[in-house]
Amino acid sequence: MGEIRLAIAGVGNCASSLLQGIEYYRHRPSDSAAGLMHADLGGYGVGDIRPVAAFDIDRRKVGRPLQEAVFAPPNCTTVFEKDLPDYGVRVHMAPVLDGVSEHMSAYPEERAFRAADVPPCDVARVLRETGAHVLVCYMPVGSDQAVRHFATACLDAGVAMVNCIPSFIASDATWAARFRDRCIPIIGDDIKSQFGATIVHRVLARLLRDRGVSLERTYQLNTGGNTDFLNMLERHRLRSKRISKTESVQSQLEVPLPADKIHIGPSDYVPWQNDNKICFLRLEWRGFGEVPMNLELRLSVEDSPNSAGIVIDAIRCGKLALDRRVGGPLLEASAVMMKRPPRQMRDADAHDLLERWIADGTNGTLEEIKVKAEVTVERTLTPARRRTPDPETVGSASVELAPTGPLRADLPHAVHAEGNGGNGAGGNGSASHPPRIPA
Ligand SMILES: NC(=O)c1ccc[n+]([C@@H]2O[C@H](COP(=O)([O-])OP(=O)(O)OC[C@H]3O[C@@H](n4cnc5c(N)ncnc54)[C@H](O)[C@@H]3O)[C@@H](O)[C@H]2O)c1
Repeated sequence: MGEIRLAIAGVGNCASSLLQGIEYYRHRPSDSAAGLMHADLGGYGVGDIRPVAAFDIDRRKVGRPLQEAVFAPPNCTTVFEKDLPDYGVRVHMAPVLDGVSEHMSAYPEERAFRAADVPPCDVARVLRETGAHVLVCYMPVGSDQAVRHFATACLDAGVAMVNCIPSFIASDATWAARFRDRCIPIIGDDIKSQFGATIVHRVLARLLRDRGVSLERTYQLNTGGNTDFLNMLERHRLRSKRISKTESVQSQLEVPLPADKIHIGPSDYVPWQNDNKICFLRLEWRGFGEVPMNLELRLSVEDSPNSAGIVIDAIRCGKLALDRRVGGPLLEASAVMMKRPPRQMRDADAHDLLERWIADGTNGTLEEIKVKAEVTVERTLTPARRRTPDPETVGSASVELAPTGPLRADLPHAVHAEGNGGNGAGGNGSASHPPRIPA
């Protein structure tokens, strides 16, 4: 199938794990490839991914060979593959825009970002000149301007985008339309780790419902010691993260919880944890006879390899979509891989649809995607039991749950460049969609 030329925006811990993983699995036979969901995805192996461009703003990374920059401070993730090849790629200076929060300067150099004092490159031009196929966006949370800058560059250069951060592009109708109109694939938004707090919380919440009990209160508190957690100490940068994480769990509930009964988000920065993330999860419900019961769970993961296990598939889906001339938000891949996809589905349904899409591209007719989404909604929001949507406060933002009802005509969907012949997710429809907290 050829190679996949990869561009990386943000050479932080996630980029480090991703590049280490590509080398790690390149040298291992597929039958011993623990940690991978797909040794082969649509004909692409992990070793087919080749970095051709990288962008950052940190003076310890800009100008350096990529294989060195991924190990430069303040990166602190586990090194499980130290021998990276010479990619022939030097890290380009990106426009800083809103990428660096002011409070970073109050923290030690080895822990925080330090912007380089050099002029920025022309991102779209670099993408064009390197012939990049897919760009993975790894900006810090809250870098909305910087993410939009990279999204615009992808549109200019015809490069597929994997948006790992909760700045809403794939799930925003206007941005989605831009990708659709240019027939450029996008998978987003906010990467859902392979076995992380979000997927565990979603599945447990859903399981309670499937076993006939309803969740009454829940929290998910997370601590970590990497720059991602340091960055999110700035509360105004955190808003989109809280929306994305909270909505991801709410979408799996029969009746969305009122705002004061659900608390989800990054909770504190503990430097010595480095890239280890600890999640404390509590769910409370009433069981048979309305007897109160609860569950407490503590999950400990290495944050960056946990997301790289998904990104490595997202990159291959992006290239597969380019090969198939499919553009716009990829609904199935986004539902499996992202916390805030254009359409939330049950994880098992999304998984099945994605496997079929990977296998032959004749997956999800739009009708079926709508039905899956609709079933999810019908099961989660039966009208008789639906609460009147309450204003909900998420972080500092006042938001409200969108009522279910006819699908908005402007909701994003994927299209086929060559006609929209029923085997892709094109066109608008009348399906409902899961409760949505508007950004
Ligand atoms: N499991 C996970 O690790 C996970 C899960 C979901 C989402 N994410 C998101 O992925 C993103 C990346 O995570 P990370 O741990 O690699 O973060 P990180 O802090 O290690 O890396 C961010 C990088 O972006 C660079 N940067 C800052 N401004 C920039 C700009 N304008 N242009 C180019 N580069 C810029 C920084 O110098 C740094 O190298 C974060 O937004 C994080 O929330 C991660």
